[in-house]
Amino acid sequence: MTFAPSDRAARRLVITGGAGFIGSNFVRHWCDRYPTDRVVVLDALTYAGNRATLADLEAGDRLRFVQGDIGDRALVDQLLRDEQIDTIAHFAAESHVDRSILGPAAFVQTNVVGTFTLLEAFRHHWQAAEGDRDRYRFLHVSTDEVYGSLRETDPAFTETTPYAPNSPYSASKAGSDHLVRAYFHTYGMPVLTTNCSNNYGPYHFPEKLIPLMCINILLGKPLPVYGDGQNVRDWLYVRDHCTAIETVIHRGQPGETYNVGGNNEVRNLDLVKLLCGLMDELALQYGVTLPQSPSESLITFVADRPGHDRRYAIDASKIKRELGWEPSVTVEEGLRQTVAWYLQNEAWWKPLLSPAYQDYYSQVYGT
Ligand code: NAD
Ligand code: TYD
Repeated sequence: MTFAPSDRAARRLVITGGAGFIGSNFVRHWCDRYPTDRVVVLDALTYAGNRATLADLEAGDRLRFVQGDIGDRALVDQLLRDEQIDTIAHFAAESHVDRSILGPAAFVQTNVVGTFTLLEAFRHHWQAAEGDRDRYRFLHVSTDEVYGSLRETDPAFTETTPYAPNSPYSASKAGSDHLVRAYFHTYGMPVLTTNCSNNYGPYHFPEKLIPLMCINILLGKPLPVYGDGQNVRDWLYVRDHCTAIETVIHRGQPGETYNVGGNNEVRNLDLVKLLCGLMDELALQYGVTLPQSPSESLITFVADRPGHDRRYAIDASKIKRELGWEPSVTVEEGLRQTVAWYLQNEAWWKPLLSPAYQDYYSQVYGT
């Protein structure tokens, strides 16, 4: 579902976490779709934030970049006021389960306390607004992981599935979702929440499954599959997530939550094998010599992640029925594009393999 610029009034947005994976894809999407909107990116540039991802947009004067923490109330107040913001698209978070196991404090700080600070700032700004308050929106980007783990035969998560988060990451996201919900019920603030399944695509930080496998294949390193590799995730191409969020900002009912998914449940081991096959095929096409082939020979089973959720699956029928959104990219096509992107964009991912990243890598996978 897309909207012609003539169907809508211009918006003035703050996009938090806009230098991260999904946030940067969304910034790019929004700037392409609505070139006359005001876009301000607020990002703390943690290890996961990369300003270089937005360099072309910044150079073209398409956005204002502000380096700062969503937990900095004075900064957020000033931004909302000075920029006359009417819309927040809130992506900023600590987002990696394995890091939340190693050190949960940052997750509580950013995901819970940071989101609370943003909600409070937006509430005061919205309440003080003169004129058309109805167009204000606070879009909170959340995850399907808040619903916990499914067994093989369980039905997919719906918007009424009880929350049962299992990792410090998902627990902190659940906490933020509850706060967002409370701001609608208590203050009538026009909030919206999306709970999305696993994303993949360009600009994905190397620590997550798909970029990690692509990069390790390119470097000839082992492909670490946790446990028996039979855990299931639903995968959505990141650009489809961006159109879902765009749709919910424009047409979602304030106070509602929307599940977003790709209708693509895949077992981890099958996914990794698919990636290996695509790499072997596309490397030839792009004239890249892989250090080891076939890539599948790099697959290595490693100790399971503690508390590893077995299966996630999303029932995205509500957003389709009520707002007309559905994914447009099949997993085969999306993975092909993603593998091709990692093959062609070594200049983006190589600098991210810093000594700090190597330290993290040894903590999770051993040396
Ligand atoms: P990411 O880790 O790639 O990016 C997070 C961004 O937030 C980074 O740019 C980082 O610098 C910034 N950030 C972190 N703490 C901050 C703070 N205190 N103040 C300001 N900025 C801060 O994450 P992502 O994968 O792009 O995820 C974006 C959002 O989508 C998150 O809220 C995540 O929970 C949610 N989500 C992710 C997925 C997925 O598959 N990646 C799926 C569903 C939902
Ligand atoms: P991940 O990308 O970390 O996303 P999430 O944990 O939020 O779903 O992991 C996706 C799946 O891949 C998950 O079941 C854990 C598994 N996995 C591995 O088997 N090996 C790895 O090195 C990583 C990072 C993940």
